[in-house]
This record gives sequence, C-alpha cells and structure tokens, in this order.
Amino acid sequence: MGKMISIAIDGPAGAGKSTIARRIAAELGFYYVDTGAIYRTVAYFMDLLGISPKDTDGVERYIDELTVGIEYDEDGLQHMIMNGMDVTGDIRTQDISQKASLISAQPVVREVLLDMQREVARQHNVVMDGRDIGTVVLPEADVKIFLTATPEVRAQRRTDELMAKGQKADFNKILAEIKQRDHQDTHRDIAPLKMSRDSVKVDSSELTIDQVVETIRKVVAEKVGL
Ligand code: DC
Repeated sequence: MGKMISIAIDGPAGAGKSTIARRIAAELGFYYVDTGAIYRTVAYFMDLLGISPKDTDGVERYIDELTVGIEYDEDGLQHMIMNGMDVTGDIRTQDISQKASLISAQPVVREVLLDMQREVARQHNVVMDGRDIGTVVLPEADVKIFLTATPEVRAQRRTDELMAKGQKADFNKILAEIKQRDHQDTHRDIAPLKMSRDSVKVDSSELTIDQVVETIRKVVAEKVGL
C-alpha cells in the first residue's frame, strides 16, 4: 500500500467544515471522515447509560463497552454505528453537541479515538474534519486548512438551517451555545482547537460554499497537484 494523501480541515463549530469537506472529498474521490461524529457517538452512548460527560471515572469505566463503527452509504454519507446500531440521526441534537464538546476533553476518549482516526487515514486517502486533525491526529497531513467564520455568521447560518427545516430557532440562544462550545473546545488541556503554523486559514464569513471549495481546491492543487 502506497502512502495515502490526507487533507485536514479544522475549525470551530458551525464554520461549514462538514459541507465543505464532503464536497472536496467527493470531487477528489477521497474518503470523508467527520471526526466530530465519532465524539458525538461516544457522548450519545454515555448519555444512554446516564453517565455525565464530566464524570471521568464513569467514562473510563464504560468506554471499553463501546464499539464505534464508521460506514458509508452509496451517496458517500458517513454513518455512525454504535455497538452495531446506526445512530447517525440521533447524535445531531444541541444536547449531544454540548455533551460531545465536554466528553472530548476526557483524556481516555481522545486516546481511544486517536488510533481509530489514524487507522482510517493510513488505509485511505482522506479529507478529515475536526478540531485537532492538523495539530495532533495527522501532523503530517499533506494539506491543512483552518476553516473559520465569525460566531455571529456561524450562529446565523445555523438559525437559517433550522428554520429551513421548519424548526424553532432562537439566534441569541444559538450564538451563546456556539460561544460556549468555542470556549470549551479551545480551552481544554489536551488537543485544544488551535491553528497550526503550517495550516492555511480560510475565513468563510463572506464567502459562498462554492467560493470556499474553490479556495481550498487551489491550496490542494498547489500542495499535492490534484
Ligand atoms: O464537529 P462537531 O460539532 O460535530 O464536534 C462535536 C464536538 O466534538 C466538538 O465540540 C469538539 C469535539 N471534537 C474534538 O474534540 N475533536 C475533533 N477532532 C472533532 C470534534
């Protein structure tokens, strides 16, 4: 097996990482790996057991009971499998967003997931999105992007998204949640969200999805000729 190509896309919650990463992966024929979904699956599992994401002893005690699987459907969408059960839809709630952010600060969780993420990148060409991909998971990634946008823009996009689905959305509440998650994700002790020196920063605040994809494709073309 030759060396695989990896593209790391890190950034704060709601910057559009998954939309962008999925598009780029599809265009290049790479695997798309949404690592946040893996943390969400752990949070969901512990939640079902009634274990608080801050309960270090509880999380350490039960983490071995969990087997996380990643599968892809024919549209290339990533499905999360928790002990054999597809929980892809269940992990997309505001409650699980917050719990995933808290549980991701638990050292045992980061340790278990680190190997899993590296193994996928060892076997496949990947576009991997998360918080610590370029800094910790794949420090040797061929391309590193730090995708960001102002908290207000991210909150507005999330509000529009929920309203388009006919759901209730309170901009101020969403903004407060985004700021809280930013704080947690950047201030934890292990592998906090930060921009590595060798990554290219892309601020999507004033860009369309197409423009962001185009910007990143240019970086990919420069670095790996694809
Ligand atoms: O990308 P997301 O919103 O689905 O991620 C959920 C949480 O998981 C996020 O708030 C922090 C954590 N996470 C992480 O610590 N490291 C990653 N590589 C990806 C996500």
